[in-house]
Amino acid sequence: RKRILSGIQPTGTPTLGNYIGAVRNWALLQPDYDCLYMVADLHALTVRQVPADLRRRTRELAALLLAVGIDPENHVLFVQSHVPAHCELSWILACNTQFGELSRMTQFKDKSAKHPDNVNGGLFTYPVLMAADILIYNADLVPVGQDQTQHLEIARNIANRFNGVYGDTFILPEGYVPASGAKIMSLAEPTKKMSKSDTNVNSFILMTDDKDTIVRKFKRAVTDSDGVVRFDRENKPGVSNLMAIYGTFTGKTMEEIEAEFAGKGYGDFKMAVAEVTADALTPVQAEYNRILADKAYVDGVLKNGAERASRIANRTVSKVYRKVGLLQLD
Ligand code: TYM
Repeated sequence: RKRILSGIQPTGTPTLGNYIGAVRNWALLQPDYDCLYMVADLHALTVRQVPADLRRRTRELAALLLAVGIDPENHVLFVQSHVPAHCELSWILACNTQFGELSRMTQFKDKSAKHPDNVNGGLFTYPVLMAADILIYNADLVPVGQDQTQHLEIARNIANRFNGVYGDTFILPEGYVPASGAKIMSLAEPTKKMSKSDTNVNSFILMTDDKDTIVRKFKRAVTDSDGVVRFDRENKPGVSNLMAIYGTFTGKTMEEIEAEFAGKGYGDFKMAVAEVTADALTPVQAEYNRILADKAYVDGVLKNGAERASRIANRTVSKVYRKVGLLQLD
């Protein structure tokens, strides 16, 4: 069976964007792949974190992934820092990645503009660690939202170059980016990505928002003044974003949604979007609270996950160390 690896940072409560763009698909892909899913705590350190918060959020995020339906019996759920081999491979890959190609990463440019006081080395080499996360498991497929596709591309380039220099070592991973929903937009500024770090709390839906909050936020969502539910990303970004969300949860095409709301106002449409979103998130939230209450269970899953992931990861590191000429004793 083909293998999947993906990750999410424990930097705050995941949004509807994280859910639709990534995590929901992680669960849906499980029947067809061998999956490894990871809480990317090392990546979170590229931005200053409050240590106690980071620790708490790491466990909470693991519980949330279990609540979404990640199955830790048949697949592997782990925390990045629990598998030290990621950092070991990351160094080797960093020595095979050029300053120029890392300088072109748009996320690095965005984040360094946003935090000019903390443009650290980790922020710059972030895509190298992400390449290590993927290549260390020889993942075939990487389900991500659109904002990670450039990072996936550099991972492929790094793998390809390494294979060229040292002989076939890594599989070139493919991205799995959902057709609609790869980029859920801010509800307040629908030309911007929905992001949990946005200062306007009305711009995002959190996976833990209750129904009243979900309804309130969708009611306030920015649309336009022509009052027609029609899919047109360019001219109607707000409405199109709501349609993408509605389409995800109902399985309806954009044409079907247009027909369903023909002659109806945005008020009805927004309520319908809020309704299907709450219906999707409410059972996840109930599971989340149940699972999080059992800390020992969550920690047990993560311990087992780290052991299983390490077995694969350590083999790759030994192979790579040998290929690049590091002396190994037996
Ligand atoms: P992170 O934590 O920023 O986001 C997790 C996943 O959610 C997707 N996403 C979105 N999708 C659609 N619409 C949005 N508004 C939206 N916001 C976020 C992201 O694309 C991502 O798939 N670097 C990664 C974590 C990572 C990783 C990896 C991913 C570390 N190592 C290896 C894949 C493979 C990140 O920061 O994701």
